[in-house]
Amino acid sequence: MTTRPFVVGNWKMNGLRANLAEARAIDRGAARHPGVRVAIAPPFTLIAAMAEQAETMAIGGQDCHVAASGAYTGDVGAPMLADAGAVFTILGHSERRANHGESDALVRAKAEAALAAGLEVIVCVGETEAERDAGQAETVVCAQLDGSLPTGEGVPARVTVAYEPVWAIGTGRVPSVADVGAMHRAIRTRLLAIYGEDGAGIAILYGGSVNPGNAAELMAADEVGGALVGGASLTAENFLPIVLAAAGPPSE
Ligand code: PGA
Repeated sequence: MTTRPFVVGNWKMNGLRANLAEARAIDRGAARHPGVRVAIAPPFTLIAAMAEQAETMAIGGQDCHVAASGAYTGDVGAPMLADAGAVFTILGHSERRANHGESDALVRAKAEAALAAGLEVIVCVGETEAERDAGQAETVVCAQLDGSLPTGEGVPARVTVAYEPVWAIGTGRVPSVADVGAMHRAIRTRLLAIYGEDGAGIAILYGGSVNPGNAAELMAADEVGGALVGGASLTAENFLPIVLAAAGPPSE
């Protein structure tokens, strides 16, 4: 496959206007690696400012409501993300699933709303440590894919999947490269079952404690099309080496 690797920074609930300078530094660094698609999903409050300043990287949201607008105090609709300059949104992150009780069905409804607003979607899946220990990791992840992914004409081209084992997020622990490859192969098989041959082109990102030291080996694992990076995406100093790792060794 010749698709460009996709490296996405998930800033979570971090970032003030003072951090826009960091985003500009990441954007300038991204421009040096045209072979990698670089993106940041900042908090809602920074989307518009970041989108106005970014020349190379894509800007996205971290969530959206299922409705386009209405009496939903505190929520943000997908058309508002698009209006602010977002081109994608992350959906179904395990922190949303755990802290906000988001079900697979809700994640799918949000994905449909985001697609209807013209956004791409990054749908997150991943097992807990207890599920992995019980030998259920692939079963759990495949059920999440079945329940969370939107389907329909033209949809696969606008979908990315992020595999993020819950126990690896923010913990400094990562699965072995072999386990990452095995899970990503299982996800690819499921995507082909769901979308037919269009499932072959969907990028599958790995996420969970990706850092400059482990990025190259994780991204070299089977079927890994990039990374979804939390903590290490907050500074150019940490994030740009991950972009470089995604670019792969220089070709002579
Ligand atoms: P982390 O977060 O890189 O800080 O582990 C990844 C994520 O939750 O997307």
